[in-house]
Amino acid sequence: MKLSRRQLIKLGLASGAAIALPAEAFAWGSSGSGGTTYGNGGTGVTAFSLPLALPSVLQPSSTDATTDYYTLTHTVAQQQIIPGKLTTIWGYNGQYPGPTIKARVGRKVVINQINNLPESVSVHQHGGHTPPDSDGHPNALIAPGQSRTYTYPNNQLPATLWYHDHAADVTGRHVYMGLAGFYLLSDDIEDALPLPKGTNDVPLVFQDRIFNTDGSLSYTLDDRTIDEGFLGDTMLVNGVIQPYFQVPRRKVRFRLLNGSNSRIYNFTLSNGKAFTQIGSDGGLLSAPVSRTSLRLAPAERADVIIDFTSVPVGTSVILQNGDSSDTYSYRSGYTAEGGWNSGGAKVDIMRFDVSRDEADESSIPTTLRTVARIPTSQATKSRTWTLAKGWSGGANKWSINGKLYDPARVDATPALGSTEIWTFKNQSSQTHPMHIHDIQFQIVDINGQAPAAYDAGWKDTVLVPQWGSARVIMKFADLTGVYMIHCHKLEHEDHAMMTQFKVV
Ligand code: C2O
Ligand code: CU
Ligand code: CU
Repeated sequence: MKLSRRQLIKLGLASGAAIALPAEAFAWGSSGSGGTTYGNGGTGVTAFSLPLALPSVLQPSSTDATTDYYTLTHTVAQQQIIPGKLTTIWGYNGQYPGPTIKARVGRKVVINQINNLPESVSVHQHGGHTPPDSDGHPNALIAPGQSRTYTYPNNQLPATLWYHDHAADVTGRHVYMGLAGFYLLSDDIEDALPLPKGTNDVPLVFQDRIFNTDGSLSYTLDDRTIDEGFLGDTMLVNGVIQPYFQVPRRKVRFRLLNGSNSRIYNFTLSNGKAFTQIGSDGGLLSAPVSRTSLRLAPAERADVIIDFTSVPVGTSVILQNGDSSDTYSYRSGYTAEGGWNSGGAKVDIMRFDVSRDEADESSIPTTLRTVARIPTSQATKSRTWTLAKGWSGGANKWSINGKLYDPARVDATPALGSTEIWTFKNQSSQTHPMHIHDIQFQIVDINGQAPAAYDAGWKDTVLVPQWGSARVIMKFADLTGVYMIHCHKLEHEDHAMMTQFKVV
């Protein structure tokens, strides 16, 4: 086989080949202190001095018998994140994080996305089972001044989904600037469960950032951040630096979303108590799982209940990120990336202040929703995706099966109605949270070991250990067309760790 020069460049084998880098020159200021201080970075904000904000819930512009219609305008805006300073963000309706969209299973949502930003965008609903023309393909761009309508059928299990920018090569910078929000899908069956509801059902998105002294956001792409992913030194929850949140002395449901570009968290509670996890990426687990530490890779979600009943009014519990060792051996390779530093010190993320007594009508059922495990015998095809470093013409890149992202290439064509097993084989010293569009999958094993109960539900993102592997199984039930597979460390994704499959 003779490779073309273009193919050789893709494989990094053509000597002296230079390929144009995506808009990396576009940077806001210099890199921050990155690691010497962390938690509040150099912002001067005192931990737990700012109240948590809850993203506003977007109201439909109109509704009919089958559909809710929304409009979102992407705009440059100024937001006070650091008291006394204004930070330029890019926001859906000028808000960071974006407004929350609440949807019901079986009821369509149509969103008109208007791009008033200086760059082209694409909007992806992460975790959604969406036809390709509305899936936010990285090259199906909305140019500045243009708009595009996305239709979401919501024919899937209720889950904590989210929407974010997905423009080819620049997703990391766009999401960093603020282009992400919650999309909460519910149904009558989940509503009928006695779980905490209303004001006691709280979405929390965790993001790390670096601020320049003038309050502007700093995002640096260089060999290190492309290699390890961008890590900020300032911790934000729902866009607020190390906030406090007043909670009642009872059970509260939190929908945890790791919306960070590349940081992996390992959450613990300062009182040593466990989270009760009730859901993963694609919806409820079959049964609740008690966990004293909870690892969350970029794009992963965990629905948890925290029980504050034993916490006296007037006292607090701190949500922390640390390197505490995980109970499951197949994850032992993960710990180096779990915390803010390798020393295992815990870093404060936010504080729950138990401020009042409140009746607790909620309970956590011992069975939540049946998750039928897909038998591996059902799979008719296996594929392997090798994840590795690929230098291309001197440019720092990540590859899948030795290839860089190319919108002109499709690397797999699963048949409609079929079930497949995909192996992600990590041949690098970095973990990769691998995400598949279109479907929710199930984890078959990680490093050969069956998933823990909290990983045995529906997933769309799986953290593949360094030099390890993860196998996932999925059924391509009812949508055809082109979808993406990529690493959700956004600096990896943008530096070519992405490819396409086509359901035929
Ligand atoms: Cu959350 Cu293809 O992305
Ligand atoms: Cu996605
Ligand atoms: Cu990666």
